[in-house]
Amino acid sequence: MPCSCCGQPDSGDYEGMFDAAWAGREADAYIRHGLETRAKRLIDHLVKNCDGPMRVLDVGSGAGGVHHELLRRGFAASVVAVEASSAYIKAAQEIGVRLGQEGQVQYIHGDFTSAAGAVGTADAVILDRVICCYPHLKQLLGASTSKAERFLALSYPRENWWVRLAFGLFNLYLKIKRKDFRTFVHPHREVHLIAEGDGLEPVHAATEGMWQITVFERVGSGSAA
Ligand SMILES: C[S@@+](CC[C@H](N)C(=O)[O-])C[C@H]1O[C@@H](n2cnc3c(N)ncnc32)[C@H](O)[C@@H]1O
Repeated sequence: MPCSCCGQPDSGDYEGMFDAAWAGREADAYIRHGLETRAKRLIDHLVKNCDGPMRVLDVGSGAGGVHHELLRRGFAASVVAVEASSAYIKAAQEIGVRLGQEGQVQYIHGDFTSAAGAVGTADAVILDRVICCYPHLKQLLGASTSKAERFLALSYPRENWWVRLAFGLFNLYLKIKRKDFRTFVHPHREVHLIAEGDGLEPVHAATEGMWQITVFERVGSGSAA
C-alpha cells in the first residue's frame, strides 16, 4: 500500500517474502558454508578494531549469521536482533541452540522503526543487506544511527547501472508474482548524509559483488578523529 504523502510503499510483506522455506535455505547455507564473503568483509573492520567483546545490535538480522559469528568468535558480548520476519527469527534461534548460544541473543520481532524506542544503544549496529529492503531510508537508518555508540556497519547495493538493472528485474519478478515486497537502491549520498548528520564518519569502505560495504564510526568514540 503506497504512503499517501510520498507515494512510497508503507514497507513490505516481510513475513510472505522471507518465509520458512527462504529462512531455512539461508540457515542451511550458514551451517554448511559459514558466512558469505560480503558478510565476512562487513564485520572484518569491527573485529580488527574493537577493544573487547561488543554489545551488538543486528537490525534485519535474517538467519543471524553475522551475530552468530561474532558470538562464536568471542567478539560479541551480547546481541539484540530485530527482525520483521518471524521465520527468520525462528531459524536464527535454532542455529543459536546448535551453537550453544541460547540466552546470548535477545530477539525482537517487528519493524525496527517502531521497535527502536524499546531498544538500547550498542557498541556496534549492523545492517547487512537491510536498507535495500525498506522504502523509508531516513526512518530506518536514522533510527539505527542513533543506537550506534561506536560503529555502524552497512552493506547496501552499489549504484552501478548493472546493480540497478538486477534490482529492477528482481522488482519486476516480484510484481509479476504479485508479492507485496520491493527492493530499493537508495542514493549513497543520502546514506552518508544521514550517518554523518548523526556524528558518524566513514572509516572503512569496500565493495563485494553488487554490494557496497561502509563502516562508520562515531567521532570521538575510538580511533575516529
Ligand atoms: C535481505 S534480508 C538480509 C538478512 C540478513 N541481514 C542477511 O544479510 O543475511 C533483509 C532483512 O531485513 C529485514 N528488514 C527490512 N526492513 C526491516 C525493518 N524496518 N525492521 C526489521 N527488519 C527489517 C527483512 O525482514 C529481512 O529479513
